[in-house]
Amino acid sequence: MLKIAVLVSGGGTNLQAIIDGITNQTIKNTQICVVISNNAGAYALERARQNEIDAVCVSPKDYGSRDAFNDALLAEVQKYNVDLIVLAGFLVKIPENLVKQYEGRIINIHPSLIPSFCGVGFYGLKVHEAALARGVKVTGATVHYVDDGMDTGAIILQKAVLVEEGDTPEILQRRVMEQAEWVILPQAIDMIANKTVTQANEKLITLK
Ligand code: GAR
Repeated sequence: MLKIAVLVSGGGTNLQAIIDGITNQTIKNTQICVVISNNAGAYALERARQNEIDAVCVSPKDYGSRDAFNDALLAEVQKYNVDLIVLAGFLVKIPENLVKQYEGRIINIHPSLIPSFCGVGFYGLKVHEAALARGVKVTGATVHYVDDGMDTGAIILQKAVLVEEGDTPEILQRRVMEQAEWVILPQAIDMIANKTVTQANEKLITLK
């Protein structure tokens, strides 16, 4: 059984897709042990509670320094003895200590086709605003392993989504979620849980 922690900051629709995937068995051999948010008001925490999953807030506001916050976040994750950390809309730069401790065991969902519209400053709606401003006709989402850079780790899955005439950032965001994110994030977790993919030395290894 793959034990996972899901880290969130907002609404938690990707968390919901994982919960649903586990319920309907598109994600097999996986258990969510804890949902952690940096934001006490995140609706994602409510979704966790409704599903009887431990829901914890670790907010930078409650700590005197960034280092103290980073240590608290690591300590909270460690309490649950998880095999994999899933960043599902966690809009905080992952502390170095966490990346070191969980090397090859952290994945992230990003709402574009990396390497487009990623890196510092590209998160949430900003990604879709930038895609529309550039006039791309195809966008999508990416699930990747997390390394010490920003959106630079090995890519596990990507799915393309068409941009349509008249799209606003909000409309495009919703389409990317529905057609790509909620599909490939559960799929990537299932692949890791059932050992069809792994990562070593920064490289993706496909096992089956
Ligand atoms: C998702 O679109 C996710 O891809 C994005 O935040 C949103 C969270 O929505 N993540 C990033 O931009 C990371 N760089 P959710 O809380 O409804 O899952």
